Amino acid sequence: MSIIKNNVEYMNINKIKNSKNKQKLTVITVYDSLFANLFKEIADILLVGDSLNMSFAGKEDTLSATLEQMIYHTKAVCTGASKAFVVLDMPFGTYTNKKIALKNAVKVYQECNAKAIKIEGGEDRAGIIKHLTSNSIAVMAHIGLMPQYVRSEGGYKVRGKTQEDINKLIKDAKAVEKAGAFAIVIEGVISEVAKKITESVNIPTIGIGSGNNTDGQVLVWSDMLGLFEDFKPKFVRHYMNGASLVKKAVNEYRKDVQNSSFPSKDEEY
Ligand code: KIV
Repeated sequence: MSIIKNNVEYMNINKIKNSKNKQKLTVITVYDSLFANLFKEIADILLVGDSLNMSFAGKEDTLSATLEQMIYHTKAVCTGASKAFVVLDMPFGTYTNKKIALKNAVKVYQECNAKAIKIEGGEDRAGIIKHLTSNSIAVMAHIGLMPQYVRSEGGYKVRGKTQEDINKLIKDAKAVEKAGAFAIVIEGVISEVAKKITESVNIPTIGIGSGNNTDGQVLVWSDMLGLFEDFKPKFVRHYMNGASLVKKAVNEYRKDVQNSSFPSKDEEY
């Protein structure tokens, strides 16, 4: 059964699984309580992505994110959105084999209220996913372009360009579904291929940079709000010019401080 609060029906794992071919899933990353509270009644799934290592901590890639860091941010998100379906992204090196993966997943469930974890990998990680799901851990899989493989792959590369890779991606999707994953993130995959993958499984696929034929979409919150100025990947849509709005507001504050118009009489005790 799903939870209804203030007329908002929050997602649960069964509703997510059953959404395929009925309702597209809206997923957004979030790293803190303030924004979790803003997003909780709008997005179906809140993902505490290890992208926070880049967009929050300013690092070059996601690889140095730690489990402690992920749990810290997930606790904050769950405080701001206690009923929402929150997924914690397992960081690099925390699921290298079945034993380590289960130990770390149990730590996540014991220390924060994440409803599920996400791990990157396809057929190569199916055994680990099976071990986790057999031990009551809800797993969202992540295939295609996998940021945690950036150094071993020599960069971020769009997937699905050759027949061999298309076959591999479909095998990956089927393997993680068979292992018990409840949904699959498909990142950086050619749109037509993401469509084929989506049609080849019975669980929902959530695309990022993979076109419009998946069962849902995920975006990094700071990307979609236009807060990241350095560059805009082709697949990102800016729903707000966040960076210029924030800078304009802070400049106005500075001006008001300098000309002594802030605080006014109404703003003092
Ligand atoms: O870390 C992250 O934010 C992610 C999403 C972009 C899917 O893995």
